[in-house]
Amino acid sequence: MRASILASVTVGLALGAFAAPSPRDDGNSSGPFPFEDGFPSPSPEQLQEIFVEAHGTLSNSSPPTNVSSQGLINLRLIDFAERIEAVYFREFLKNVTTGVDGYELPSWVDYDYFVNFLNVTQHVEELHNLDAATALAHFNQTAIQPCTDYHFPVSNFNESVTLAMTFTSNVFGLLGEIVQIFAQSGDFGLTRHVVQVVANEGEQNGFFRYLLGRVPDELPFTTTSTREFSFTALQGFVDPASCPNINLISQDIKTFDALTLLDTPNATTSDIRFAVASDKYVNGTSYSVVYNNQLNTPIVEPATWVSSDNTTVTLKATFPYDAHLMNGLTIAAITNSSGPFADVDAVSAAAIWAPAFIVVN
Ligand SMILES: *[C@@H]1O[C@H](CO)[C@@H](O)[C@H](O)[C@H]1NC(C)=O
Ligand SMILES: *[C@@H]1O[C@H](CO)[C@@H](O)[C@H](O)[C@H]1NC(C)=O
Ligand SMILES: *[C@@H]1O[C@H](CO)[C@@H](O)[C@H](O)[C@H]1NC(C)=O
Ligand SMILES: *[C@@H]1O[C@H](CO)[C@@H](O)[C@H](O)[C@H]1NC(C)=O
Ligand SMILES: *[C@@H]1O[C@H](CO)[C@@H](O)[C@H](O)[C@H]1NC(C)=O
Ligand SMILES: *[C@@H]1O[C@H](CO)[C@@H](O)[C@H](O)[C@H]1NC(C)=O
Ligand SMILES: *[C@@H]1O[C@H](CO)[C@@H](O)[C@H](O)[C@H]1NC(C)=O
Ligand SMILES: *[C@@H]1O[C@H](CO)[C@@H](O)[C@H](O)[C@H]1NC(C)=O
Ligand SMILES: *[C@@H]1O[C@H](CO)[C@@H](O)[C@H](O)[C@H]1NC(C)=O
Ligand SMILES: *[C@@H]1O[C@H](CO)[C@@H](O)[C@H](O)[C@H]1NC(C)=O
Repeated sequence: MRASILASVTVGLALGAFAAPSPRDDGNSSGPFPFEDGFPSPSPEQLQEIFVEAHGTLSNSSPPTNVSSQGLINLRLIDFAERIEAVYFREFLKNVTTGVDGYELPSWVDYDYFVNFLNVTQHVEELHNLDAATALAHFNQTAIQPCTDYHFPVSNFNESVTLAMTFTSNVFGLLGEIVQIFAQSGDFGLTRHVVQVVANEGEQNGFFRYLLGRVPDELPFTTTSTREFSFTALQGFVDPASCPNINLISQDIKTFDALTLLDTPNATTSDIRFAVASDKYVNGTSYSVVYNNQLNTPIVEPATWVSSDNTTVTLKATFPYDAHLMNGLTIAAITNSSGPFADVDAVSAAAIWAPAFIVVN
């Protein structure tokens, strides 16, 4: 197994670039909902069943009595993000159990073990979603309604595990950002929920990484992200027009123009190319590619023009792996400022085209 899998230990994804709709046919206009277990609106009996399948319960302790406005923005984004994850793992599980072409397991992966893993994980993600939905209800807030059209840019086992690894790595960064915003906003009563969730997602990611021949440890300090990078990427997995009240999120969190990674870097310094739509590109402007990795200050590299056609501009920049040991998740963005940027939030504030995700090693 090992030699061939270890040969490809990098992945590059520009999730926003995969937004082309390919409607899932779930037989009716409610998309994949409700699931067999009643999710996202299980009855009390169905919820007990979800607890059994997830190997655990929702918290039965009381949430705080009040919440900040930034705290509500966090909860809405978690509601949206975790439901997408539940849909993803249910679809992955179905693909494996119904024998979809490309979803045959590698010979060294035990079928029962893997199916059980996805089964538990799907229900765990349902509870992560219901935790946020329950908190919003507690604060008398409108929940984020399910989208009906989900589509993921994967069509075999390897791609599905790789995408799960990539978006889970970004979730570590998103939840770190969210816990910081809760803390800044006085919502300390919600911080533990987020930390307990991120630890669970770390457990999942170690297994995805094992399946890809990588060591379970991604990084000593995983990469930070922002609500804006995450919301932009997540919208690549849905048709936003099929999400009845996504405006409750987009009123507060901006969406970037798509950034497409054209070359996947390896664990070495090299030039890599990116594509952006030409409508906002101003010839003569000095653009930069800004890389965010771990908890470090963002790395700025000049972006140089490679080519243009009617709709797309191709740019290239150095991926400075050797100077910065850029393992694990790196989030790239393009700005018209060369910084310096204090942190990922400053990059997110300045980004024009973003994000692109790279996972080396
Ligand atoms: C997954 O990738 C590995 C390494 O590239 C390859 O050996 C294996 O055949 C792939 N499996 C599938 C199902 O594509
Ligand atoms: C869609 O299908 C599900 C499961 O078959 C069913 O429970 C649900 O009521 C259907 N929804 C609509 C709008 O037809
Ligand atoms: C998932 O687990 C539950 C029990 O926890 C079981 O009833 C169900 O059949 C499992 N689903 C699959 C697809 O294995
Ligand atoms: C919640 O209310 C308490 C008491 O009025 C106040 O001290 C605290 O700052 C409030 N928390 C938030 C997040 O607004
Ligand atoms: C499941 O398989 C279908 C058909 O290949 C594919 O379109 C979809 O993206 C897959 N979903 C996951 C989560 O692997
Ligand atoms: C939610 O609404 C109920 C009923 O109107 C009220 O009793 C409760 O105090 C409200 N909760 C919050 C957090 O505003
Ligand atoms: C990374 O390595 C692969 C396999 O050797 C190669 O095809 C690819 O061009 C390399 N990527 C870059 C950016 O050099
Ligand atoms: C954009 O600038 C490059 C050099 O910076 C130049 O070669 C190219 O022709 C320009 N494209 C357009 C459309 O002006
Ligand atoms: C694209 O550019 C070519 C020339 O480079 C031109 O002939 C063509 O009409 C353009 N198409 C559009 C849709 O603008
Ligand atoms: C840089 O980008 C920002 C945000 O997209 C824009 O408002 C500003 O006009 C741009 N500045 C230049 C010099 O292009």
